Amino acid sequence: MVSSTTIAGCEGAGVPALRINGLSKHVHRSNGGLVKAVDDVSLEVIPGEFVVLLGPSGCGKTTLLRCIAGLEHASVGNIEIGGGQQQRAALARALIAGNGLILFDEPRSNVDAKVRDQLRQELVTMQHKLGFAAVYVTHDQVEAMQLADRIAVFGAGKVRPVASPRDTYRRPLSRYVANFVGTTNELAGRVASRSGDEIVVVTAFGPIRGSAGHPALRENDEVVALWRPEDTLVNDL
Ligand SMILES: Nc1ncnc2c1ncn2[C@@H]1O[C@H](COP(=O)(O)OP(=O)(O)O)[C@@H](O)[C@H]1O
Ligand SMILES: [Mg+2]
Repeated sequence: MVSSTTIAGCEGAGVPALRINGLSKHVHRSNGGLVKAVDDVSLEVIPGEFVVLLGPSGCGKTTLLRCIAGLEHASVGNIEIGGGQQQRAALARALIAGNGLILFDEPRSNVDAKVRDQLRQELVTMQHKLGFAAVYVTHDQVEAMQLADRIAVFGAGKVRPVASPRDTYRRPLSRYVANFVGTTNELAGRVASRSGDEIVVVTAFGPIRGSAGHPALRENDEVVALWRPEDTLVNDL
């Protein structure tokens, strides 16, 4: 069912199933160049939590999973899995313990639609029953929405803000996330006024009222107003 699965141990109340601190991984290109496949990623997964890493092909998802699994050494940063510092022995212990953290690398990408849905249901049932924490990699935003407790949108080696599927869609914390998940309308403009979270932006099509996506936004700042198509209201004049 899974193309790549690793199980690592996780014991103790209040201890995260996984903690990644400032992890970077440099890889060598065939032309001799060096690129950061993973760039300063920090992420915490609590026991029993299902975190989906969502990002386009080539953005570094597999490299990050391989670092978590101990198959690659991080260039910078460290990883803690349940009992302490990640190391191969932790994986062996966990395989015997049989619970903790499970890593999935695009396990449903090569199966047809009907089987995909069955697999999703089985995976959810299994996770609820066994209670393991999971890091699940996919480029498929629908799959991410269906499975995740929290989604970590991944782009160019970096994890963008991590949030629940609802908040990722309704209140994305960056323009990158807004554009990667779902369909977005965009209009450039300038902040006319701000009162708490409420903000008015003047655009070429008139003023737009909305909520401030960033605490630092001030009057006269040049901004981009983003909204979902279903939030558009059309009235007669
Ligand atoms: N061992 C490697 N050698 C050279 N380049 C690599 C290696 N592993 C990954 N890369 C490069 O790092 C980037 C991220 O790859 P990968 O982690 O496989 O992305 P994803 O799983 O998101 O598709 C890509 O540009 C890929 O070509
Ligand atoms: Mg991959």
